[in-house]
Amino acid sequence: MSAATMTLYHAAASPFVRKVMLVLHETAQLERVHLQSILVAPTKPNLALNADNPAGKLPALRLADGNVLHDSRVICEYLDHLHDGEPLLARQGAARWRSLTLASLADAILDAAVLIRYETFLRPADRQWETWLAAQQDKIERSLTYFEQHALSELRQRFDMAAIGLACALGYLDFRQPEHGWRERHPGLADWYAQVSQRPSMLATPPTN
Ligand code: BEZ
Repeated sequence: MSAATMTLYHAAASPFVRKVMLVLHETAQLERVHLQSILVAPTKPNLALNADNPAGKLPALRLADGNVLHDSRVICEYLDHLHDGEPLLARQGAARWRSLTLASLADAILDAAVLIRYETFLRPADRQWETWLAAQQDKIERSLTYFEQHALSELRQRFDMAAIGLACALGYLDFRQPEHGWRERHPGLADWYAQVSQRPSMLATPPTN
């Protein structure tokens, strides 16, 4: 019998869902969550998801008492409070603000990459806005440069909440922009990612359509 008391709206292509899945793997809480697979696209609303998250965005987590948590940052931190191991996100002090800021920067990479995906995949080619696409790519590049130049030693210390976010961002770039070429420009990140990609949590959660 399943011990799951929570339900996670899930799509294997979503890098934000992957963050939550990585937290579940890394904190050995997979059995607590039932996965409810859904199809989502900005132009195809999912009524069940919309009822639980008015923003219509993945992921959302329905708790045993019927309350629903979203977005991925809230869900990840909630799950981080449910296990007995060392927290993935520092609970207080400078380390907390640093981790939250790096996690936010990783999410910014994801936001830009997902917007690029929507613009290039959903919008008709003759209506795509090249200047805007280039600005999103610049955001990604600046953020990767920051991680390469200012956060590598922190990333190497522990696969914590910020590292999980960045791993999902790099995995999503490989998934949706295989031609991106980030490894050539960011060799330290490439080396770090090659290592963390071998973690069981990463191997168990590849993005798929
Ligand atoms: C994607 O297919 O790239 C995607 C799916 C869900 C959320 C974000 C992106």
